[in-house]
Amino acid sequence: MIKKGIILSGGMGTRMSPLTKAVNKQLLPIYDKPLIFYPLSILMLSKIKNVLIIVNKGQLKQYKKIIPDGKRLGMNITYKEQDKPKGLPDAFILGKNFIKKDKVAMILGDNFFYGQSLTKMLTKCVNITDGAKVILHKVVNPKNFGVAQVKDKKIVKIKEKPKKFFSDLAITGLYFFDNKVIEYAKKLKPSKRNELEIVDLLNQYRIKNRLSAELIGRGGAWLDTGSIEDFYKTSNFVSAIENQQGFKIACLEEISLSNGWIKRSDIKKSIEFYGNCNYSKYLKKIIS
Ligand code: DAU
Repeated sequence: MIKKGIILSGGMGTRMSPLTKAVNKQLLPIYDKPLIFYPLSILMLSKIKNVLIIVNKGQLKQYKKIIPDGKRLGMNITYKEQDKPKGLPDAFILGKNFIKKDKVAMILGDNFFYGQSLTKMLTKCVNITDGAKVILHKVVNPKNFGVAQVKDKKIVKIKEKPKKFFSDLAITGLYFFDNKVIEYAKKLKPSKRNELEIVDLLNQYRIKNRLSAELIGRGGAWLDTGSIEDFYKTSNFVSAIENQQGFKIACLEEISLSNGWIKRSDIKKSIEFYGNCNYSKYLKKIIS
Protein backbone atom coordinates (compact mmCIF):
# COMPACT_ATOMS: atom_id res chain seq x y z
CA MET A 1 0.00 0.00 0.00
CA ILE A 2 1.23 3.50 -0.80
CA LYS A 3 1.73 5.41 2.44
CA LYS A 4 3.64 8.47 1.25
CA GLY A 5 2.54 11.37 -0.92
CA ILE A 6 4.06 14.47 -2.46
CA ILE A 7 2.19 17.67 -3.26
CA LEU A 8 4.02 19.63 -5.93
CA SER A 9 3.02 23.10 -4.91
CA GLY A 10 5.60 25.47 -6.31
CA GLY A 11 5.69 27.12 -9.70
CA MET A 12 5.77 30.81 -10.51
CA GLY A 13 2.04 31.15 -11.27
CA THR A 14 3.01 33.49 -14.10
CA ARG A 15 -0.36 33.09 -15.85
CA MET A 16 -2.05 34.53 -12.76
CA SER A 17 0.21 37.50 -12.15
CA PRO A 18 -0.18 40.03 -10.45
CA LEU A 19 -2.18 37.84 -8.02
CA THR A 20 0.78 35.50 -7.65
CA LYS A 21 3.56 38.10 -7.34
CA ALA A 22 3.56 38.05 -3.54
CA VAL A 23 1.64 34.86 -2.74
CA ASN A 24 2.01 31.39 -4.25
CA LYS A 25 -0.96 30.24 -6.37
CA GLN A 26 -1.76 27.31 -4.09
CA LEU A 27 -2.31 29.66 -1.15
CA LEU A 28 -4.97 31.66 -2.99
CA PRO A 29 -8.62 30.92 -2.22
CA ILE A 30 -10.86 28.39 -3.89
CA TYR A 31 -14.12 29.65 -2.41
CA ASP A 32 -13.57 29.35 1.37
CA LYS A 33 -10.18 27.62 1.68
CA PRO A 34 -6.69 27.91 0.23
CA LEU A 35 -6.24 25.83 -2.93
CA ILE A 36 -3.65 23.59 -1.21
CA PHE A 37 -6.38 22.14 1.07
CA TYR A 38 -8.00 20.37 -1.90
CA PRO A 39 -5.03 18.26 -3.13
CA LEU A 40 -4.06 17.60 0.51
CA SER A 41 -7.58 16.30 1.14
CA ILE A 42 -7.18 13.89 -1.79
CA LEU A 43 -4.03 12.37 -0.28
CA MET A 44 -5.84 12.15 3.07
CA LEU A 45 -8.79 10.38 1.45
CA SER A 46 -6.21 7.95 0.05
CA LYS A 47 -5.22 7.33 3.72
CA ILE A 48 -1.79 8.82 3.13
CA LYS A 49 -0.47 10.23 6.41
CA ASN A 50 3.08 11.09 5.37
CA VAL A 51 3.19 14.09 3.08
CA LEU A 52 5.98 16.15 1.56
CA ILE A 53 4.94 19.54 0.21
CA ILE A 54 7.32 20.99 -2.37
CA VAL A 55 7.13 24.78 -2.48
CA ASN A 56 9.01 27.46 -4.37
CA LYS A 57 11.80 29.47 -2.76
CA GLY A 58 10.57 32.28 -0.53
CA GLN A 59 7.11 30.81 0.23
CA LEU A 60 7.91 28.33 3.01
CA LYS A 61 7.03 30.77 5.81
CA GLN A 62 3.64 31.47 4.26
CA TYR A 63 2.82 27.77 3.86
CA LYS A 64 3.85 27.00 7.44
CA LYS A 65 1.45 29.64 8.72
CA ILE A 66 -1.51 27.66 7.40
CA ILE A 67 -0.13 24.09 7.52
CA PRO A 68 2.70 24.05 10.08
CA ASP A 69 3.55 20.34 10.38
CA GLY A 70 0.43 18.19 10.23
CA LYS A 71 0.28 17.50 14.00
CA ARG A 72 -3.20 18.99 14.36
CA LEU A 73 -4.36 16.61 11.61
CA GLY A 74 -2.63 13.57 13.06
CA MET A 75 -0.27 13.60 10.09
CA ASN A 76 3.39 14.03 9.34
CA ILE A 77 3.81 16.95 6.92
CA THR A 78 7.24 18.20 5.89
CA TYR A 79 8.44 20.69 3.30
CA LYS A 80 11.14 20.99 0.67
CA GLU A 81 11.96 24.03 -1.41
CA GLN A 82 12.42 23.92 -5.17
CA ASP A 83 14.74 26.70 -6.33
CA LYS A 84 13.09 26.99 -9.75
CA PRO A 85 10.40 25.08 -11.69
CA LYS A 86 12.46 22.32 -13.33
CA GLY A 87 9.48 20.14 -14.23
CA LEU A 88 7.14 17.75 -12.45
CA PRO A 89 9.56 14.76 -12.22
CA ASP A 90 11.96 16.98 -10.22
CA ALA A 91 9.64 16.15 -7.29
CA PHE A 92 11.10 12.65 -7.13
CA ILE A 93 14.68 13.88 -7.22
CA LEU A 94 14.00 16.49 -4.53
CA GLY A 95 11.92 13.98 -2.60
CA LYS A 96 14.27 10.99 -2.70
CA ASN A 97 15.18 11.16 1.00
CA PHE A 98 11.48 11.37 1.83
CA ILE A 99 10.50 8.46 -0.43
CA LYS A 100 13.43 6.24 0.60
CA LYS A 101 12.59 2.64 -0.45
CA ASP A 102 8.82 3.16 -0.58
CA LYS A 103 6.17 3.69 -3.25
CA VAL A 104 4.77 7.18 -3.60
CA ALA A 105 1.77 9.15 -4.82
CA MET A 106 2.07 12.63 -6.27
CA ILE A 107 -0.60 15.27 -6.73
CA LEU A 108 -0.15 18.68 -8.32
CA GLY A 109 -0.98 21.54 -5.97
CA ASP A 110 -3.44 23.05 -8.44
CA ASN A 111 -5.59 19.96 -9.12
CA PHE A 112 -9.18 19.62 -7.86
CA PHE A 113 -11.06 16.31 -7.74
CA TYR A 114 -14.63 15.61 -6.63
CA GLY A 115 -17.06 12.74 -6.96
CA GLN A 116 -18.86 9.98 -5.17
CA SER A 117 -16.75 7.05 -6.36
CA LEU A 118 -13.49 8.93 -5.81
CA THR A 119 -12.55 7.28 -2.49
CA LYS A 120 -13.15 3.83 -3.96
CA MET A 121 -10.89 4.67 -6.90
CA LEU A 122 -8.20 6.08 -4.61
CA THR A 123 -8.20 2.89 -2.53
CA LYS A 124 -7.56 0.92 -5.71
CA CYS A 125 -4.72 3.26 -6.71
CA VAL A 126 -2.81 3.15 -3.42
CA ASN A 127 -2.90 -0.63 -3.59
CA ILE A 128 -0.75 -0.96 -6.71
CA THR A 129 2.00 -3.49 -6.15
CA ASP A 130 4.38 -2.26 -8.83
CA GLY A 131 4.49 -0.01 -11.90
CA ALA A 132 2.68 3.32 -12.16
CA LYS A 133 -0.93 4.43 -12.38
CA VAL A 134 -2.48 7.58 -13.82
CA ILE A 135 -6.01 8.96 -13.59
CA LEU A 136 -7.69 9.96 -16.84
CA HIS A 137 -10.58 12.34 -17.43
CA LYS A 138 -12.38 13.24 -20.66
CA VAL A 139 -11.95 16.89 -21.64
CA VAL A 140 -13.00 19.17 -24.49
CA ASN A 141 -9.59 20.87 -24.69
CA PRO A 142 -6.95 18.11 -24.73
CA LYS A 143 -4.39 20.53 -26.18
CA ASN A 144 -3.97 22.00 -22.69
CA PHE A 145 -2.97 18.78 -20.94
CA GLY A 146 -0.94 15.61 -21.01
CA VAL A 147 -3.06 13.22 -23.11
CA ALA A 148 -3.35 9.42 -23.22
CA GLN A 149 -4.73 7.13 -25.89
CA VAL A 150 -6.22 3.90 -24.60
CA LYS A 151 -6.83 0.74 -26.67
CA ASP A 152 -8.15 -2.50 -25.18
CA LYS A 153 -7.71 -0.98 -21.71
CA LYS A 154 -4.01 -0.35 -22.38
CA ILE A 155 -2.31 3.02 -22.73
CA VAL A 156 -0.77 2.98 -26.20
CA LYS A 157 0.34 6.60 -26.51
CA ILE A 158 0.93 9.61 -24.26
CA LYS A 159 1.94 13.13 -25.21
CA GLU A 160 2.21 16.49 -23.43
CA LYS A 161 -0.08 19.22 -24.82
CA PRO A 162 -0.47 17.65 -28.29
CA LYS A 163 -1.03 20.11 -31.13
CA LYS A 164 -2.75 17.40 -33.22
CA PHE A 165 -5.79 15.60 -31.78
CA PHE A 166 -5.39 11.88 -31.04
CA SER A 167 -7.47 11.42 -27.85
CA ASP A 168 -9.66 13.46 -25.51
CA LEU A 169 -8.45 11.72 -22.34
CA ALA A 170 -6.41 14.10 -20.21
CA ILE A 171 -3.86 12.74 -17.75
CA THR A 172 -4.81 14.41 -14.48
CA GLY A 173 -2.26 15.64 -11.97
CA LEU A 174 -2.53 12.64 -9.65
CA TYR A 175 -0.02 9.84 -10.09
CA PHE A 176 0.94 6.64 -8.23
CA PHE A 177 4.42 5.13 -8.57
CA ASP A 178 6.56 2.25 -7.37
CA ASN A 179 10.06 3.01 -6.07
CA LYS A 180 11.62 2.88 -9.56
CA VAL A 181 10.34 6.43 -10.03
CA ILE A 182 13.46 7.93 -8.43
CA GLU A 183 15.80 6.05 -10.78
CA TYR A 184 13.69 6.90 -13.86
CA ALA A 185 13.39 10.58 -12.91
CA LYS A 186 17.16 10.86 -12.51
CA LYS A 187 17.64 9.51 -16.05
CA LEU A 188 15.43 12.17 -17.69
CA LYS A 189 16.85 14.96 -19.85
CA PRO A 190 15.18 18.39 -20.05
CA SER A 191 12.82 18.88 -23.01
CA LYS A 192 12.85 21.74 -25.55
CA ARG A 193 11.09 23.97 -23.01
CA ASN A 194 13.93 23.11 -20.61
CA GLU A 195 11.82 21.09 -18.16
CA LEU A 196 11.79 17.47 -17.07
CA GLU A 197 8.53 16.15 -18.53
CA ILE A 198 6.05 13.94 -16.66
CA VAL A 199 5.10 12.21 -19.94
CA ASP A 200 8.74 11.16 -20.46
CA LEU A 201 8.71 9.64 -17.00
CA LEU A 202 5.38 7.88 -17.61
CA ASN A 203 6.64 6.64 -20.97
CA GLN A 204 9.44 4.77 -19.22
CA TYR A 205 6.76 2.78 -17.42
CA ARG A 206 4.58 2.46 -20.53
CA ILE A 207 7.27 0.92 -22.74
CA LYS A 208 7.86 -1.70 -20.04
CA ASN A 209 4.14 -2.45 -19.88
CA ARG A 210 4.02 -1.10 -16.34
CA LEU A 211 1.62 1.82 -16.76
CA SER A 212 -2.06 1.44 -15.92
CA ALA A 213 -4.93 3.90 -15.70
CA GLU A 214 -8.19 4.58 -13.94
CA LEU A 215 -10.88 6.65 -15.58
CA ILE A 216 -12.98 9.27 -13.79
CA GLY A 217 -16.40 8.90 -15.37
CA ARG A 218 -19.21 11.40 -15.91
CA GLY A 219 -20.14 11.40 -12.23
CA GLY A 220 -16.78 12.78 -11.20
CA ALA A 221 -15.23 16.19 -11.59
CA TRP A 222 -11.62 17.13 -12.22
CA LEU A 223 -10.56 20.73 -12.60
CA ASP A 224 -7.06 22.10 -13.16
CA THR A 225 -6.87 25.57 -11.64
CA GLY A 226 -4.21 26.94 -13.95
CA SER A 227 -5.82 30.26 -14.82
CA ILE A 228 -7.89 32.98 -13.17
CA GLU A 229 -11.03 31.74 -14.98
CA ASP A 230 -10.39 28.24 -13.60
CA PHE A 231 -10.16 29.69 -10.08
CA TYR A 232 -13.58 31.28 -10.39
CA LYS A 233 -15.06 28.20 -12.07
CA THR A 234 -13.77 25.90 -9.30
CA SER A 235 -14.80 28.36 -6.55
CA ASN A 236 -18.33 28.47 -7.96
CA PHE A 237 -18.43 24.70 -8.08
CA VAL A 238 -17.36 24.38 -4.42
CA SER A 239 -19.77 27.12 -3.33
CA ALA A 240 -22.70 25.49 -5.15
CA ILE A 241 -22.09 22.07 -3.59
CA GLU A 242 -21.29 23.32 -0.08
CA ASN A 243 -24.23 25.72 0.14
CA GLN A 244 -26.70 23.21 -1.24
CA GLN A 245 -25.65 20.26 0.91
CA GLY A 246 -24.23 21.90 4.01
CA PHE A 247 -21.13 19.68 3.76
CA LYS A 248 -17.70 21.13 3.17
CA ILE A 249 -15.40 19.86 0.44
CA ALA A 250 -11.81 19.37 1.69
CA CYS A 251 -12.40 20.03 5.37
CA LEU A 252 -9.09 18.53 6.52
CA GLU A 253 -10.09 17.96 10.16
CA GLU A 254 -13.29 16.16 9.14
CA ILE A 255 -11.31 13.71 6.97
CA SER A 256 -8.73 13.18 9.72
CA LEU A 257 -11.49 12.41 12.19
CA SER A 258 -13.17 9.92 9.88
CA ASN A 259 -9.77 8.29 9.19
CA GLY A 260 -9.37 7.84 12.95
CA TRP A 261 -6.20 9.96 13.00
CA ILE A 262 -7.54 12.48 15.52
CA LYS A 263 -10.22 12.63 18.20
CA ARG A 264 -13.14 15.04 18.45
CA SER A 265 -11.35 16.87 21.28
CA ASP A 266 -8.34 17.50 18.98
CA ILE A 267 -10.55 19.55 16.66
CA LYS A 268 -10.82 22.19 19.40
CA LYS A 269 -7.17 23.06 18.72
CA SER A 270 -8.02 23.71 15.09
CA ILE A 271 -10.98 25.90 16.04
CA GLU A 272 -8.61 27.96 18.17
CA PHE A 273 -6.05 28.04 15.37
CA TYR A 274 -8.43 29.28 12.65
CA GLY A 275 -10.28 31.71 14.93
CA ASN A 276 -13.81 32.95 14.59
CA CYS A 277 -14.79 32.09 10.98
CA ASN A 278 -17.24 29.95 9.02
CA TYR A 279 -14.71 27.11 8.75
CA SER A 280 -14.49 27.01 12.57
CA LYS A 281 -18.29 27.11 12.83
CA TYR A 282 -18.38 24.02 10.61
CA LEU A 283 -15.78 22.31 12.83
CA LYS A 284 -17.88 23.13 15.89
CA LYS A 285 -20.87 21.49 14.22
CA ILE A 286 -18.82 18.34 13.56
CA ILE A 287 -17.85 17.93 17.20
CA SER A 288 -21.18 18.87 18.73
O1 DAU B 1 -3.16 19.39 -14.37
C1 DAU B 1 -2.80 18.29 -15.14
C2 DAU B 1 -1.65 18.61 -16.07
O2 DAU B 1 -0.58 19.12 -15.25
C3 DAU B 1 -1.22 17.36 -16.85
O3 DAU B 1 -2.22 16.99 -17.76
C4 DAU B 1 0.08 17.62 -17.60
O4 DAU B 1 0.52 16.43 -18.20
C5 DAU B 1 1.14 18.17 -16.67
O5 DAU B 1 2.34 18.50 -17.36
C6 DAU B 1 0.65 19.40 -15.93
O6 DAU B 1 0.47 20.44 -16.88
P1 DAU B 1 0.39 21.97 -16.47
O7 DAU B 1 0.63 22.81 -17.68
O8 DAU B 1 -0.86 22.21 -15.70
O9 DAU B 1 1.64 22.09 -15.48
P2 DAU B 1 2.15 23.36 -14.71
O10 DAU B 1 3.48 23.74 -15.25
O11 DAU B 1 1.08 24.39 -14.66
O12 DAU B 1 2.39 22.83 -13.22
C7 DAU B 1 1.40 22.20 -12.48
C8 DAU B 1 1.58 22.50 -10.99
O13 DAU B 1 2.85 22.05 -10.52
C9 DAU B 1 1.50 23.96 -10.62
O14 DAU B 1 0.73 24.07 -9.46
C10 DAU B 1 2.91 24.40 -10.36
C11 DAU B 1 3.60 23.12 -9.93
N1 DAU B 1 5.00 23.01 -10.37
C12 DAU B 1 5.26 22.88 -11.70
C13 DAU B 1 6.55 22.72 -12.16
C14 DAU B 1 6.84 22.55 -13.63
C15 DAU B 1 6.01 23.01 -9.44
O15 DAU B 1 5.77 23.13 -8.23
N2 DAU B 1 7.30 22.85 -9.88
C16 DAU B 1 7.62 22.69 -11.20
O16 DAU B 1 8.82 22.52 -11.51
